[in-house]
Amino acid sequence: MFQAHIIGTGSSAPKRILSNIELEAIVDTSDDWITRRSGIKTRHIASKNEKESTTDLAAQASLKAMEMAGIQSEALDMIVTGTVTPDRQFPSAGCMIQEALKANNAAAFDLSAGCSGFLYALSIANHAIQIGSCKTALVVGVERLSSIVNWEDRSTCVLMADGAGAVVVTSKSESGGILSSHMKSDGSYWDLLYSSYGNSRTPEILQDVDIKPFFMSMEGNRLFKKAIRCLSSIAIEAMEKNNLTSQDIRLVVPHQANIRIIEGLASSLDIPMEKVYTNIHKYGNTSSASIPIALDEANREGLLKMGDNVLLVSFGAGLTWASTLIRWSI
Ligand code: UT7
Repeated sequence: MFQAHIIGTGSSAPKRILSNIELEAIVDTSDDWITRRSGIKTRHIASKNEKESTTDLAAQASLKAMEMAGIQSEALDMIVTGTVTPDRQFPSAGCMIQEALKANNAAAFDLSAGCSGFLYALSIANHAIQIGSCKTALVVGVERLSSIVNWEDRSTCVLMADGAGAVVVTSKSESGGILSSHMKSDGSYWDLLYSSYGNSRTPEILQDVDIKPFFMSMEGNRLFKKAIRCLSSIAIEAMEKNNLTSQDIRLVVPHQANIRIIEGLASSLDIPMEKVYTNIHKYGNTSSASIPIALDEANREGLLKMGDNVLLVSFGAGLTWASTLIRWSI
């Protein structure tokens, strides 16, 4: 068996920063409500006048990760992308990213697991590396949620945002790197967070009408209650699998959906907030991009040292939830 090691991280966000104050002019909301209920102050929103499509953002993040890893695109033999907002229904975002990077030797595909998309993708790459079917993989989490939120629905449009993060993972014989990955789903709660129409569910009557059919619906309050329980149980599962306790964790990098969910998770794990990375105040909820963006920022800020135990943990639409434990080796 081989070990999968992260050797580079990168991230990218659109130029336009939208503040809570600006949102007050768009929907019936307030800076105070958004800050208190979610922890978000600003978010990045893509513009069609810039090179900020899902593919563009993903390629920018990937190039930074590849630069840190010191590898050329030909070295990639797999591109796994977690996203619910590819540029097109098909081909996959993965293939579009492959073309942007000229990563001609890679097998490229997408994975839809809501906000757990990145950790699911990382898990697939990890297992492919462990069994020797892949040497070096690019794992991407990218979203352009601004394209699918209803800008008249204050319960979602103030939370969701755009961005991309990526890591390069490679096979090494040394121990460390990705120690374990866990994934869970519960489709019986699909209706807590979903896209109203799209694909085979688009009513025929709408198919010829010029409207935006991919609106997001969310029952935030019910999701909130599930989130802390699911995140906490899968984080504990990861630590137990590796015979580690909360004290052994150097940094938790959770999905950034709500600061109160993150604080609830930290408290349930008995981990102080100083050991939990948060950037939700700047980025909002970028779904599958949130963990790789946060991981890249933590890495570039020098918060991660060789040998540190880093716990990544996510929760989102599906429902899906996941955790990955890493012994940092950059
Ligand atoms: O990314 C992965 C999955 N996502 C999550 O896990 C998100 C989980 N949920 C949450 O983060 C929180 O539930 C929210 C931030 C979405 C909402 O916070 P909450 O404390 O659960 O508020 P609520 O939904 O219970 O709404 C409270 C009130 C309601 O008014 P009434 O019925 O009490 O009069 C809402 O209509 O806040 C109202 N409200 C707003 N007010 C101002 C809802 N959205 C807004 C808004 N501005 N943007």
